[in-house]
Amino acid sequence: MSSEQRPSPGSALITGATAGIGAAYARRLAADGWDLVLVARDAERLDTVAADLTGRHGRRVEVIPADLSTEDGCAAVERRLSAEPPVELLVNNAGHSANRSFVQSTAEVETRLLRLNVHAVMRLSLAALRPMTQRGRGAVINVSSVSGFAPIMPGSTYPASKAWVTNFSESIGQSVRPFGVRVMAVCPGYTRTEFHSRAGINTSGLPGWAWLQADDVVTDSLRDLHKGKFVSVPSWRYKVAVAALRHAPRRLLQAVTRDTRGRLRRDAA
Ligand SMILES: NC(=O)c1ccc[n+]([C@@H]2O[C@H](COP(=O)([O-])OP(=O)(O)OC[C@H]3O[C@@H](n4cnc5c(N)ncnc54)[C@H](OP(=O)(O)O)[C@@H]3O)[C@@H](O)[C@H]2O)c1
Repeated sequence: MSSEQRPSPGSALITGATAGIGAAYARRLAADGWDLVLVARDAERLDTVAADLTGRHGRRVEVIPADLSTEDGCAAVERRLSAEPPVELLVNNAGHSANRSFVQSTAEVETRLLRLNVHAVMRLSLAALRPMTQRGRGAVINVSSVSGFAPIMPGSTYPASKAWVTNFSESIGQSVRPFGVRVMAVCPGYTRTEFHSRAGINTSGLPGWAWLQADDVVTDSLRDLHKGKFVSVPSWRYKVAVAALRHAPRRLLQAVTRDTRGRLRRDAA
């Protein structure tokens, strides 16, 4: 049966859907027969991605150009989450790193990070989960990070924002499970996307084995969602790393983690 003839499992809304992990979710879900609602800031790029997915898979693809670090951006996506056809799967994927030491940062930069990585996730989850619990079905995937399991990048507030996403997802996931709704955090390690170049992070010293592919992150996360997990850590390499982060004594972690990117030194220069 071709993808055009397949019945649609419903509509999925993906934030940050034009690049990296979000684009991989869009490709995979369209191939699986989902209709899509794609969110990102760059309207032209959204239209290109939407046309490509419609052409390849014959699915209905809506776009919402929105900056989720703003009030207007969150409100626009909230409106879609309470409209028809209902969104059966929300993927809160858009996120970014400020890549600077907190003491050299500004309130504006840190607020923007929290608004995108934390506030938007809270707002859109709330907007999606109310109708999902009423219908008795639906799922929310929140894209977090392995860095959220411990303060492994001293000076960076990015891991703290992702710690919130993971903790939030596990907590809310347990509360909505009795209503037939799932919430899961997916915690990737280093993944080849535009994320590091956008943030100006130099990854040239990272070994090849440390890198994940966005398509594999998506495959693992959807399998874990199907299994009913609250937290998904793609790839055995990062499962081992997370087990170590969770169980290593804090003092040992503090001894081995350091300001590896020299954020404070560079910022001060
Ligand atoms: N890559 C990694 O190594 C890695 C590891 C762990 C976790 N993660 C997490 O994975 C998620 C996706 O990251 P990625 O690596 O796929 O990043 P990416 O390749 O840089 O893609 C980011 C996507 O988010 C959109 N976006 C950025 N800022 C936005 C805003 N203010 N409002 C709406 N959309 C926005 C971008 O489009 P526009 O620029 O057009 O808005 C783009 O579609 C993030 O939450 C990130 O923290 C990434």
